[in-house]
Amino acid sequence: MATYPNTSRLMQRGCEFLGTETAILCGAMSWVSERNLVAAISNAGGFGVIACGAMTPELLDAEIAATRGLTDKPFGVNLITMHPMLFDLIAVCARHKVGHVVLAGGIPPKGSVEAIREFGAKVLVFAPTLALARRLLRSGADALVIEGSEAGGHIGPVATSVLAQEFLPELAEDHVVFVAGGIGRGEMIAAYLEMGASGVQLGTRFACASESIAHPAFKQAFFRANARDAEASVQVDPRLPVIPVRALKNKGTELFTQRQREVAALLDSGKIEMAEAQLQIEQFWAGALRRAVIDGDVENGSVMAGQSVGMVTREQPAAEIIAELMQECEAALS
Ligand SMILES: Cc1cc2nc3c(=O)[nH]c(=O)nc-3n(C[C@H](O)[C@H](O)[C@H](O)COP(=O)(O)O)c2cc1C
Repeated sequence: MATYPNTSRLMQRGCEFLGTETAILCGAMSWVSERNLVAAISNAGGFGVIACGAMTPELLDAEIAATRGLTDKPFGVNLITMHPMLFDLIAVCARHKVGHVVLAGGIPPKGSVEAIREFGAKVLVFAPTLALARRLLRSGADALVIEGSEAGGHIGPVATSVLAQEFLPELAEDHVVFVAGGIGRGEMIAAYLEMGASGVQLGTRFACASESIAHPAFKQAFFRANARDAEASVQVDPRLPVIPVRALKNKGTELFTQRQREVAALLDSGKIEMAEAQLQIEQFWAGALRRAVIDGDVENGSVMAGQSVGMVTREQPAAEIIAELMQECEAALS
């Protein structure tokens, strides 16, 4: 690998933590982050993370084994905290001696961090507020990911640049913190490293890597899109639950807004109970990411993408993307 002395110095703690050559994580992306992309990222000196998503323990078991077959480098597993079989999934990670588990999608339930640490793995958690970050680090989390609203997928309300200013001066000296959301080029990585981050996590930039199994139509949608096309989902009525997701606007996102209005009107007229209304909204996107990523239905599916999508213009091997990011970062630091 080429040498990047300034970058390597600032990434050292992150690299030691991950066991990698670069402190660049490819954030788990459901349906996208499977064996091929994960192995490609790790083989290129980054840190790939399997997206467990809604997988059963059996499927996760097979995915970890298959990934091991493609790389002997470290990689992690991302588990969603609401998964009804979370502790069985942790047991699968333990059997495979996975080195790093990322807990996403909410506050880790009681005992989960301990169960992961018990088999020797490191635990990475997301924290939307500084107070929660402190609590999670005190109760055993080994590292933190702060992710701003520019990111693709499920998002919080605050921009990465603001989170970085709030969290890094307070936590980065004593803790490993990775910054995610809206990073498309190495100059941005340099800025966060200089603020004390141990490394960064990117999703959007890697989603269309040559090794990604995403459908060609999904990749084309990324290549065509500008930053402004990656919109956060809109909540039309406070009574109806909408988890904010950033995705490319399409027929599906338009229909979703329309559907919320219809369901709200049914509620107003008393034709439907609250529980039924909420269920209808929750179920609207069921299976939608798979439809976009695997089936290539980019009109009705959920084309999750971050605002950095405008910087994704062509298919490139993962190794080339990582090399480009490292070169840009090094140039900025030199
Ligand atoms: C298509 C897609 C699917 C995603 N799925 C997940 C997921 O299953 N679990 C998760 O923790 N994050 C998920 N994310 C977020 C990424 O892991 C990563 O944190 C994010 O993409 C970083 O911001 P960026 O998109 O601006 O690079 C997803 C992102 C995208 C673009």
